[in-house]
Amino acid sequence: MPLWTGRFKKSLDKQTNDFNASIPFDCRMAAEDIAGSVAHVTMLGKQGILDKAESEKIAKTLKEIAADLQNGALEIDMTAEDIHTFVEAELTRRIGDSGKRLHTARSRNDQVALDLRLYLLKQADLIDAAILRFLRVIADKAEATADFVMPGYTHMQRAQPVTFGHHLLAYAAMLERDRDRLADCKKRMAVSPLGSGALAGTTYPLDRAYAAELLGLSGVSDNSLDGVSDRDYVLELLSCLSILMVHLSRFAEEVILWCSWEFKFVELDDAFSTGSSIMPQKKNPDIAELVRGKSGRVFGDLVTLLTVMKGIPLAYNKDMQEDKEAVFDAVDTVLLCLDTFSPMLETATVLRENLRKAAAAGFINATDCADYLVGKGLPFRDAYKCTGELVALCIDRGLTLETLPLEDYRKVCELFDEGVFDAIDLDACVQRRTVKGGPAPECVRREIAALRKRIEN
Ligand code: ARG
Repeated sequence: MPLWTGRFKKSLDKQTNDFNASIPFDCRMAAEDIAGSVAHVTMLGKQGILDKAESEKIAKTLKEIAADLQNGALEIDMTAEDIHTFVEAELTRRIGDSGKRLHTARSRNDQVALDLRLYLLKQADLIDAAILRFLRVIADKAEATADFVMPGYTHMQRAQPVTFGHHLLAYAAMLERDRDRLADCKKRMAVSPLGSGALAGTTYPLDRAYAAELLGLSGVSDNSLDGVSDRDYVLELLSCLSILMVHLSRFAEEVILWCSWEFKFVELDDAFSTGSSIMPQKKNPDIAELVRGKSGRVFGDLVTLLTVMKGIPLAYNKDMQEDKEAVFDAVDTVLLCLDTFSPMLETATVLRENLRKAAAAGFINATDCADYLVGKGLPFRDAYKCTGELVALCIDRGLTLETLPLEDYRKVCELFDEGVFDAIDLDACVQRRTVKGGPAPECVRREIAALRKRIEN
């Protein structure tokens, strides 16, 4: 039975009923719906809107329903219109008329807005915890590879030497910003719309702040129309998750490249890669590819809700029921990606020698060679030009800056002496980059220590 009988002479058409119902997906907010109702009814009792003993009986029964759902003694009736209807019907089944008083001074419009806030606050915490797990894995891997010299790239061309640990810490920096964004988004999410009623508040003397406090929320919404029709908190969360997925997708893309025979910087554990049904030699980074692909789903979820919301007049409209599947999908996808990526990275082998070979082959110490001449007093622009000529000479002769004889250096510029070979030594090149945020192993280790501190706080 729907909650809205009385006015209608017929029951809802079967297909329309299914079209209208949200219980197949809002059933996952059962615990939050009950928590919201307990706070609401407790507040009604405190305000004398409901008899104190009756309000306590309702709250107690609601908690029993929550416990029964939790331990499997009670199953959600999937023919109910939505989770709110189901909980109220079950309450009334258990305690009769008292159950029918729960909805005093409340609408499903402020109820669902509250439920979703409570649910997403929990999900944001779960996602934060998953990011933390991932950050720990990154910190460990970065520590183990803090002095693995590799080429850093711009334009996908070998550019300057960095270390694998340093490269990984770039992703840690992105993920820490993701955590910040989530925390900020939670501030605006932790506001109670309860008391907004259907749209125009209520005539009952509610203590909205008290109900919010019971729920651990930091305040109440300022406008009843906004209270029931605001879904910014969902859009903000979806935006945060989309940015997070951009980060995971870029990381995934690099793992895919690194696993190719063209790079071979990384070997994934067999437990985190897959084979081909026809090509016996194949070992594919499917997990990373799926993470990259699933980023599209999450962006799609954001665009779904932006599109749903953009033309809705105030206040509540049923369009807004479409918020849930989109944001649930995004939350599930992000959790899945984080928790699959973490062990994949943890068990991956970083191939130090291959990193080194790639670092040795791309003239990535050319800037250091120019800097060496600057140290001898030459203006940087001239030093740059000399080094460019040396690189051209090396390419012509199939040599590297390390193997080019000193006399060739001196033909291009007389300022060169034996010292140049120390200056362009790859390890030395990395070790000298000690600027804050730089790739020198000592810097990387310092940043890892700082990261670990932030993680454990
Ligand atoms: N299932 C609805 C939703 O998710 C609950 C609110 C229904 N309100 C209404 N006036 N029909 O948005």
